[in-house]
Amino acid sequence: MQIHKATFVISNTDVEKCPSGNRHEYAFIGRSNVGKSSLINMLTNHKGLAMTSSMPGKTVLINHFLVNDEWFIVDLPGYGYARAGKENRDRLKNIIESYILCRQQMTNLFLLIDSRHEPQKIDLEFMEFLGENQVPFSIVFTKIDKSGPVAVKNKIDAYCDKLRETWEELPPIFMTSSVDKRGREDILDYIQQLNALPKIDIN
Ligand code: GTP
Ligand code: MG
Repeated sequence: MQIHKATFVISNTDVEKCPSGNRHEYAFIGRSNVGKSSLINMLTNHKGLAMTSSMPGKTVLINHFLVNDEWFIVDLPGYGYARAGKENRDRLKNIIESYILCRQQMTNLFLLIDSRHEPQKIDLEFMEFLGENQVPFSIVFTKIDKSGPVAVKNKIDAYCDKLRETWEELPPIFMTSSVDKRGREDILDYIQQLNALPKIDIN
């Protein structure tokens, strides 16, 4: 799929104030600093579209971006940033959970995992939460440019083995680098497929 236009629309803390209508919507979630905002900029070919930072905790709102005047990409705050303090963490958790559970337009949630890390409890628990609530999601292993191909493959294989301990079937899996743009076509092709699904009935 070609991306010929991507524009920022609105930032919110309240899911009720997110854009109306029934456009397909794809949200990006994961631990703080995993590379959500960078991936959105890579997918849209738009360097400064989503705000990125080397410091965790950069994105604190629900951010809607309209792509090709047709569908939305949503940048969400990261979860689990220890230094944010309990009050802030709880506030972000509420924003994230209310968005994920209430936003019917969300056709798929991309859950990002750093490809260099061992499976972390916080991500596995988050997946359980998605499963329990029947939220459609895929896994994106990020920052694959930071390791060699064999190391990346071994880490991801081991991660999938861990998931198979609790999941009968694995969700779709993508591997990306926002630096060298690997994985871009795979994700955009997947979104294109999902865009063909019926839209929610909002009447
Ligand atoms: P929060 O908004 O704080 O939750 O973080 P985020 O998940 O949006 O992460 P962000 O995109 O801001 O990236 C965090 C850091 O990781 C930045 O320094 C990015 O440059 C870096 N980064 C993100 N993706 C990649 C990647 O694919 N490869 C490499 N080498 N660095 C990356
Ligand atoms: Mg961010």
